[in-house]
Amino acid sequence: MELQKISARQGNHNLQNYEKMRETFNWEDIQKNFSWNETGKVNMAHEAVDRHAQNPDKKNQVALSYSAPDREEDITFEQLSISSNRFANVLKKYNVKKGDRIFLFMPRIPEFYAAFFGILKTGAIAGPLFEAFMEQAIRDRLQDSEASVLITTPDLLGRVPQEDLPDLEKIILVGDHNENSDTYIDYQEEMKSASPDFAIEWVELEDGMLIHYTSGSTGKPKGVYHVHNAMIQQYATADWVLDLKEGDVYWCTADPGWVTGTSYGIFAPWLKGVTNVVRGGRFTPEDWYGTLDKYNVNVWYTAPTALRKLLSAGEEAVKKHDLSSLRHMLSVGEPLNPEVVTWGLDAFGLRIHDTWWMTETGAQLIVNLPSEEIRPGSMGKPIPGIEASIVDNEGNEVPPNQMGNLAIKEGWPAMMRAVWNNPSKFESYFINGWYVSGDSAYKDEDGYFWFQGRLDDVINTSGERVGPFEVESKLIEHQAVAEAGVIGKPHPERGEIVKAFITLNEGHEKSDELLEEVRQFVKTGLSAHAAPREMEFTDSIPKTRSGKIMRRLLKSWELGLPTGDTSTLEE
Ligand code: WTA
Repeated sequence: MELQKISARQGNHNLQNYEKMRETFNWEDIQKNFSWNETGKVNMAHEAVDRHAQNPDKKNQVALSYSAPDREEDITFEQLSISSNRFANVLKKYNVKKGDRIFLFMPRIPEFYAAFFGILKTGAIAGPLFEAFMEQAIRDRLQDSEASVLITTPDLLGRVPQEDLPDLEKIILVGDHNENSDTYIDYQEEMKSASPDFAIEWVELEDGMLIHYTSGSTGKPKGVYHVHNAMIQQYATADWVLDLKEGDVYWCTADPGWVTGTSYGIFAPWLKGVTNVVRGGRFTPEDWYGTLDKYNVNVWYTAPTALRKLLSAGEEAVKKHDLSSLRHMLSVGEPLNPEVVTWGLDAFGLRIHDTWWMTETGAQLIVNLPSEEIRPGSMGKPIPGIEASIVDNEGNEVPPNQMGNLAIKEGWPAMMRAVWNNPSKFESYFINGWYVSGDSAYKDEDGYFWFQGRLDDVINTSGERVGPFEVESKLIEHQAVAEAGVIGKPHPERGEIVKAFITLNEGHEKSDELLEEVRQFVKTGLSAHAAPREMEFTDSIPKTRSGKIMRRLLKSWELGLPTGDTSTLEE
């Protein structure tokens, strides 16, 4: 089959000559864009917010253009600088210090952004949690990080298992409530009396900034630990890949509970000083188009799931809106289907630029650039400063067109610096100088990378990572469930869905009602996105002799594929 190619886009792109930049590039060149280059003093909150607030030409520019069904607000860089100063003072008052873990469990509302930068200004480490998490997910993350302060809303408070969280000293409540013990701090009241001035805590580039919990195939979610240094790469990719320009309006649809929502929903746009659109609430295709239209969005970063939904909504929906401001579209999180790229050309008259990276990598690594040809279905090529390759299990590079582990040469600015509390997990990512991603891929003769799948059992449902172990653990907490095995099952719109196989304890009867009850148990105990969309009873769960669930075998059964090597299967 003839390989489809979409030629490079003509125009004044920030990165015009990829090959030349790769040859001459040095990460130090990027540092010149930051004041710490001269002072040695650094803080992400300064570079992303205060720097613009101190610039007379930028301070009144809208930083955050917020809209939700029930609320609309424009917040300037100066206002964001002041509100985050106030919040930093509130934290200081309650003894928050550099390095403390301060978590946020709340919807994306403007207060989130004030609190988030307030945390960074004190030198503490921020931990944003997805609003859909239920009790178990909150417990795991707050226990592991030993968080001392949580910022949440009265609505979500019921999901915080305080009795299991001995390190949690204070809870800051955003919104009306009737709590009056010493544990609770009222956001509105404290913010009113807090000073608008704050002496920012200058930190080292290698000091901690952020923890994102993410799922692997074994064990509890792991705390991926990022440092202020990440700004170098986030700035560079905002420039080259997002192609942001002074005066742009930018929209990233991701929630800050996920890494895309922080690296590219907060840091990248504000390091570049552009107006950032944030939309709260749930989306329909109509909302998506409506937001692009109403805010005159120039650059849009979204996910294949969203794009597939738009595709199925049909071209009529596009035509109802004026999308003439839109100049640049990007995608991340799961494979971007070639047909979506082709549809994008028709529907928007624009190329959709796929980008590949992970929570662990902190910023984009393999991308499609506006000045480069796109090969639909390919993730593109590594950005300048990044060496990517395909390696075998010993960490040796394999020839072009051969499948293997997608790997990155160790050491880039935004790379995670640790897995919180788990050094051996961190080390397990590296083989022979390569960071091994867990994705399988191949590289063609021209250096384009093609995603093939996950090598482990991690499930990617609508772009969200779900660890089968976490779901299995929750399932067996239900009194009727004896054993559980969880897999990702291919799905046309969501990429994959979570499918669970369960066996029952003595004395319980198989029924559809029971399946639904167990499903709800996971949904309300862990989180909605991790709840199995499909469930099935089975008489036994296949396990290895050492007791590991053979998810691969469950998957082969589900898909009617050959079962491969089953020599380790238990009797
Ligand atoms: C998958 C999201 C195909 C991949 C930023 C990776 C992708 C995991 C792409 C990381 C892409 C991400 N094409 N697959 N362009 N981008 N993935 O940590 O399996 O939530 O390992 O980070 O998503 O997911 P995470």
